[in-house]
Amino acid sequence: MRIERRVERQAPFSIIVEGETLPAYPGETIAAVLIERSPTIGRTASGAARGMFCNMGTCSLCMVTLLPEGRRVRACLTPAEPGLEIGLG
Ligand code: FES
Repeated sequence: MRIERRVERQAPFSIIVEGETLPAYPGETIAAVLIERSPTIGRTASGAARGMFCNMGTCSLCMVTLLPEGRRVRACLTPAEPGLEIGLG
């Protein structure tokens, strides 16, 4: 959950995750937006829930796809930007 008390933020904007519109704030990474939505961002090869691990660019467990170009990026290192659309696959 985002810390809401005694925090001043700029106006939120939207990003789209798997077709779902989510609020994001300037300065947040894609990972911060995803964690607010759910601690699970995908599935392992065996089908187990998969979340983020290091949150500092080392483990690559947070890879997401920027749409429509299909570029893969680490969610924990990539700033959320207005209108960004991502896929979790
Ligand atoms: S959570 Fe480990 S690289 Fe992003």
